Amino acid sequence: MMRISVSTSRELKIERDDGTSFAIHPLWLRERCPDAETFDLQTGQRLQDPADFPLDIAITQISEPQPGRLRVRFSDAHEAEFAVADLLSEAELAPGDHDIPAPRLWDRTLESLPRATWRADASEDERAAWVQAFLEWGFVIFSQVPTQPGQVLKVGSAFGFIRETNFGALFDVRSTPRPNDLAYTSLPLDPHTDNPYRVPVPGVQLLHCLVNETSGGLSTLVDGLAAAEALRLRDPQAFELLSRTPVRFRFRDADTELVSSTPLIELDVTGRVQAVHVSPRLDFVPLLPPADLTLYYRARQLFDRLLRLGEFELRFLLEAGDLMMMDNRRLLHGRTGFDPQEGLRHLQGCYIDIDGPRSLYRVLRRRPRARSSQAVA
Ligand SMILES: [Fe+2]
Repeated sequence: MMRISVSTSRELKIERDDGTSFAIHPLWLRERCPDAETFDLQTGQRLQDPADFPLDIAITQISEPQPGRLRVRFSDAHEAEFAVADLLSEAELAPGDHDIPAPRLWDRTLESLPRATWRADASEDERAAWVQAFLEWGFVIFSQVPTQPGQVLKVGSAFGFIRETNFGALFDVRSTPRPNDLAYTSLPLDPHTDNPYRVPVPGVQLLHCLVNETSGGLSTLVDGLAAAEALRLRDPQAFELLSRTPVRFRFRDADTELVSSTPLIELDVTGRVQAVHVSPRLDFVPLLPPADLTLYYRARQLFDRLLRLGEFELRFLLEAGDLMMMDNRRLLHGRTGFDPQEGLRHLQGCYIDIDGPRSLYRVLRRRPRARSSQAVA
């Protein structure tokens, strides 16, 4: 049940029994009229430039032809019918919301990792559960991915379009004699996000373990979002500094030179953390006045301690056939060092954009089904 009225300020007011209410601007409503005059009904794209509607447009008449539907007449003589549920579902979205599951923050105490058994012919229910887990936790570990080279591209393609870079569509992570990146050595790698020097940064990284005969080489994951929120609580000044000081990241080899400037903690317009960019091998703060730099270095050290001292870190062995898919804008990843004399350690990786899994989530949600929570343990 709900009460619907037009207030004296000509806003449409929808009031629900639970006490929540929405004041809807008449122009907001006018530019959403779901009819063939306003929209191309095939594509759902608007035919009229909404900036052409009169700024003082008003609602002149309103009726409820049937429960849950509103018929509205506007002062430009246009009439349209709305489903109240459609209006509410959009009205409820907070500014900046992506209409996807909210992230669930985690730390080292996360007991059950989001794991799933990969199946190329998985049902829509299974895929929906995988992508939901990915959006909530920021990662999923698939097992039983066939250990043929190139499989990571097939898994990536199931969630989005492969993002090719100067490393290629697919990159091999193993120790090589003359590497152009420390990833291609047997050295330990502190938690980092990949390629902060790229615009945009790769949204999702997939890493597929083809062989791991070493006893070291554990994979690490850190929830950068949880660590950033912890910093915001524990030291608001440090958080604020790291979210507004642009840092230059650079990658250079014989054929490529990529540079980007971004704060370590990237906020959206509403102040929520939307990405972290951390790569201690690559970050260069501009020359600020010494007093500002003193504060910045202190803030960076605090954040670094949160990221590296294990509070937010998971550590596990990727075995042959395991494939880790992680949100590279939220999570940091790394590995412990290993002894290449013990045996081979060979992973293959690729990137996809973050909107691939988000799109898949929305598309799968359009189809009604009984949700299965069994597919991700
Ligand atoms: Fe990496």
